[in-house]
Amino acid sequence: MAHDPVQARVAAALTGVQNPRVGKDVISAGTVADIHVHDGGKVHLTVLLRQEDPASLPREIRAALKDVEGVTGVKLDIHDPAAADAPRHAPPQPGMAPAAPVAKPRPAPQSRQLPHLGHIVAVSSGKGGVGKSTVSANLAVALASAGHRVGLMDADVYGPNLPRMFGIAGQQPLVVEGKIQPVPAHGVRVMSLGSIVERDAAAIWRGPIIQKIIQQFLNDVEWGQLDYFIVDLPPGTGDAQLSLVQSVHLDGALIVTTPQEVAVGDALRGAKMFEKVGVPVLGIVENMSYFACPHCGERTAIFASGGGKRLADELGLPLLAEIPLQAGMPDMSETGVPVVVGAPDSAAARALTALAEAVQQQVGGQSVRLPVIVG
Ligand SMILES: Nc1ncnc2c1ncn2[C@@H]1O[C@H](COP(=O)(O)OP(=O)(O)OP(=O)(O)O)[C@@H](O)[C@H]1O
Ligand SMILES: [Mg+2]
Repeated sequence: MAHDPVQARVAAALTGVQNPRVGKDVISAGTVADIHVHDGGKVHLTVLLRQEDPASLPREIRAALKDVEGVTGVKLDIHDPAAADAPRHAPPQPGMAPAAPVAKPRPAPQSRQLPHLGHIVAVSSGKGGVGKSTVSANLAVALASAGHRVGLMDADVYGPNLPRMFGIAGQQPLVVEGKIQPVPAHGVRVMSLGSIVERDAAAIWRGPIIQKIIQQFLNDVEWGQLDYFIVDLPPGTGDAQLSLVQSVHLDGALIVTTPQEVAVGDALRGAKMFEKVGVPVLGIVENMSYFACPHCGERTAIFASGGGKRLADELGLPLLAEIPLQAGMPDMSETGVPVVVGAPDSAAARALTALAEAVQQQVGGQSVRLPVIVG
């Protein structure tokens, strides 16, 4: 697999790391399934780690690469070959269930900086069903397509639906060295309560449990180094919102609304809550704004129009996007294909991609990507 000198040196260094389960080095054993070197020295390895492999292998792999000439960073994508998200070339091993999450709750920290999460943006709304999850999912995928490292956390403990939208429903996240691994999908690292518990179990949960879950998602999930961290919130201003703003420093919030949701106390209340706790509202996203004819592109307003603009004006905020109603969008999200992937040329996908650019400008500013963390 060696094509360039750094790749060759990495492969050679890895032949010095043994997988004792197989009795061979990690290359011959197939534990390291893929070596990519990009930007001249950033090494990206796919590591197939079975449950009976020593948990210290990732550490040993990193240690072996530390002083290899030309290596400027090391990133490991660790998969259990028995799990459903394992790369295709690893045949599934029957009888090996993925580990259940075991991370323990931590004491409540106050609004911490978590620099490895990058820019943290929450997606909220006053009312349910206006398209928060659709916006979160597509925003995350569009940012990832633009070359960013993106995490997406489903904080909608009562109705988590991101796993379905990403086609990863039923996939259990792995636990490696005591850390929950987010599930990779469409270039985004996704973590949802929907991946861990039965939907009905969450319905009875109250504030303190929700706070613990959100803190665990922030602190105990191995997100790695990210550029953007998108949080899909439940509607309103409940426990999840409060827990989030109390637990971590947010860069900003987006408020999603539909056009007919005029003046709307609910959306205003949401915006006020964020502002009160010092979280800037980046702007308003109007979803289901109009219907764009797929043949001629003509715009037809289905609902009373202008709600997003009115709300933005009332709050003195920018209207960042007007996303049209897109025929087939609900089907696409049911089948795990966000519209920016499934129909990238559609009017809705273009509006969502433009939203991602606006968000980058608002919170990313001129800043460049953070360096890959080594070790
Ligand atoms: N622009 C759009 N065009 C067509 N369908 C859309 C659009 N935006 C969202 N939908 C559909 O509307 C439904 C609700 O969207 P979504 O689940 O994103 O809303 P939500 O605000 O996250 O809802 P909840 O409050 O229940 O979490 C979904 O079936 C979704 O596919
Ligand atoms: Mg939702």
